[in-house]
Amino acid sequence: MTDQDGFETLAIHAGNTADPLTGAVVPPIYQVSTYKQDGVGGLRGGYEYSRSANPTRTALEENLAALEGGRRGLAFASGLAAEDCLLRALLVPGDHVVIPNDAYGGTFRLFAKVVQRWGVEYSVADTSDAASVGAALTDRTKVIWVETPSNPLLGITDIAAVADIARTAGAKLVVDNTFASPYLQQPLALGADVVVHSLTKYMGGHSDVVGGALVAADAGLGEELAYHQNAMGAVAGPFDSWIVLRGIKTLAVRMDRHCENAARVAEMLGGHPKVARVLYPGLEEHPGTRSRPSR
Ligand SMILES: Cc1ncc(COP(=O)(O)O)c(C=O)c1O
Repeated sequence: MTDQDGFETLAIHAGNTADPLTGAVVPPIYQVSTYKQDGVGGLRGGYEYSRSANPTRTALEENLAALEGGRRGLAFASGLAAEDCLLRALLVPGDHVVIPNDAYGGTFRLFAKVVQRWGVEYSVADTSDAASVGAALTDRTKVIWVETPSNPLLGITDIAAVADIARTAGAKLVVDNTFASPYLQQPLALGADVVVHSLTKYMGGHSDVVGGALVAADAGLGEELAYHQNAMGAVAGPFDSWIVLRGIKTLAVRMDRHCENAARVAEMLGGHPKVARVLYPGLEEHPGTRSRPSR
């Protein structure tokens, strides 16, 4: 791999180093819980127990970090498991979070029904409007959460503008990049601190796996999240990691086709007499398209 490798090369090769035992070009499914040690403290390749690390999961985690341009990728049993780990790593009772008014329902439930019970407060903002995000801040705000495009209304947030607000407020910017995928959008390059994924969607791509991910821009934060991943334990299993890694190899071609198909459906619906409004960020009249970008 080189710095010049394009997205599709990274999608196919990053993390996919030839298996040291056989030379297999695709990382094997290391369906194993524990690893033989070469004496006390002598870990072969750094592996000890598969909650802490597993070679198939490592391959996926390295691939995710490369695609998002981050320093550390971590793979989880689901998108919500990744979100839960992130929130418990970043927040303590008394902290405050700004969340989008159109976040995925499960994310909203996590804040409203789970995290809030542990003393973390949240305010809801229209993150497509930077002023609304600024107005929702308190002196205890530690995280600004953005989902763009949002599920299901496809709202668009100007990540760079909100990253400026987060930096000034001393808060971390988290971006749920599930719908765009790193093929279409790389939030860390726009100033986000952490990217969240439901790998269940376009990354897996075949409706045959549930998974989640975090990618941190900063190595220190990545280490902190990895500590919590191991401490809390909701990791992606080896087979699920392998399935996602396989799906990612075709991410670019699938996303191109999704975009072409969605544009045609949006156009068709836009001309339909029984359709009042079409929400598709590719349309000129979409509010996110009009406001893009603020600098
Ligand atoms: C944008 C978004 N984020 C997070 C999640 C949660 O992911 P999972 O279902 O893998 O737990 C979903 C699920 O639909 C989603 O659409």
